[in-house]
Amino acid sequence: MAGIYIHFPFCKKKCNYCNFFSVVSSKYRNLFVDALLKEIILQKDYLENETIQTIYFGGGTPSLLNKNEINKIFDQLNKYFRIDKNAEITLEVNPDNLTQIYVNEIKYSPVNRISIGIQSFLNEELKYLGRIHDAEQSLNSLKYLQDEGFENISIDLIYGIPSEKNNHTTNWEKNLETAFTSNIPHISAYSLTVEPNTILDSLINKGKYEPVDEHTSAEHFEILMKSMREHNYIHYEISNFCKEGFYSKHNSNYWLQKKYLGLGPSAHSYNKISRQWNIASISKYIDSLNNKTVPFEKEILSETTKYNEYILTSLRTIWGCDINFIKSNFDKIFYQLLLKESEKYFQNNFLFFKGNKIFLTDSGKLFADKISSDLFIEE
Ligand SMILES: C[S@@+](CC[C@H](N)C(=O)[O-])C[C@H]1O[C@@H](n2cnc3c(N)ncnc32)[C@H](O)[C@@H]1O
Ligand code: SF4
Repeated sequence: MAGIYIHFPFCKKKCNYCNFFSVVSSKYRNLFVDALLKEIILQKDYLENETIQTIYFGGGTPSLLNKNEINKIFDQLNKYFRIDKNAEITLEVNPDNLTQIYVNEIKYSPVNRISIGIQSFLNEELKYLGRIHDAEQSLNSLKYLQDEGFENISIDLIYGIPSEKNNHTTNWEKNLETAFTSNIPHISAYSLTVEPNTILDSLINKGKYEPVDEHTSAEHFEILMKSMREHNYIHYEISNFCKEGFYSKHNSNYWLQKKYLGLGPSAHSYNKISRQWNIASISKYIDSLNNKTVPFEKEILSETTKYNEYILTSLRTIWGCDINFIKSNFDKIFYQLLLKESEKYFQNNFLFFKGNKIFLTDSGKLFADKISSDLFIEE
């Protein structure tokens, strides 16, 4: 059981907050797909013939791929990998380039799950984020997808956005209400992070944009958890909520330590022994593949790194941190240290035990990163 991630590194415009690897220039646009097809061949043995259960086209803006390119990529994947006939195949799409015609084309491609970058249903917030779509395009694109019969739809929302006009809490409640009335079975909600060297970082530093504050984000996260519960969504990972049966299989596999192969510039791969990441440069990626070499760096995972990664990911999920797994996969000192370091978090009600597993409480979820880093073990 394994997954494939394909990184499409082109966007029409760089959003204010984004530091994912993507470029606006389309200089290498056509050469990129050819290079990707070459990488598929060179990486055919990475997953050791395991059946592929999930494929995820992420970016960047993979909905800039046309139907012929999507089909070409699938033909190549089918030629070199064993893909389960019920595989979950996700395409990340942006509302600004989702026409009714495109939706119809992808409905007749192998894509069976859509993740759409709505971010906000409010124009004021979309402007703050530097998105090129507006609220009307967001609603239209959801309508096109639902009219075409796509059921497995996920939307991305961002909270913690400061507001000049309204009470920021009202804005966030309005966004959630629109998501609920739109009947969306999967919602990913991320706290706005001001990443260094982004447009947002510079606008805030120059005093042109209101800064993001962590109290607002925490307040929004509490509203998020409460309203998701009221609307019967399962909170299965810190930032992810779904109706029963609509878990993202691809992302769940990351959190459950399953193997995956990442294709395209900057994409990461993991095979339980090592992690590797492709070069974050499109021209170097293409040059290297023209010379029949995948350009990547690699880290062999030490026992400590594997343990820290397990703590970080497992605590974020509904599946929790399994004590028996730790006992049987790591030196016994790891288990002893975990019990010792986590004690204060049990006492202040940030962690709880159920059976053999440790979980974050709702209050603990607000501090998930801090708690897991406190439980990490140094090399
Ligand atoms: C890799 S992005 C690509 C999605 C797609 N290109 C789009 O923008 O619609 C995946 C998601 O991460 C979230 N994201 C990216 N940067 C973020 C940031 N600085 N703070 C919060 N969320 C962020 C956004 O919700 C975004 O949709
Ligand atoms: S958020 Fe999405 S569309 Fe915006 S720059 Fe990043 S990858 Fe591109």
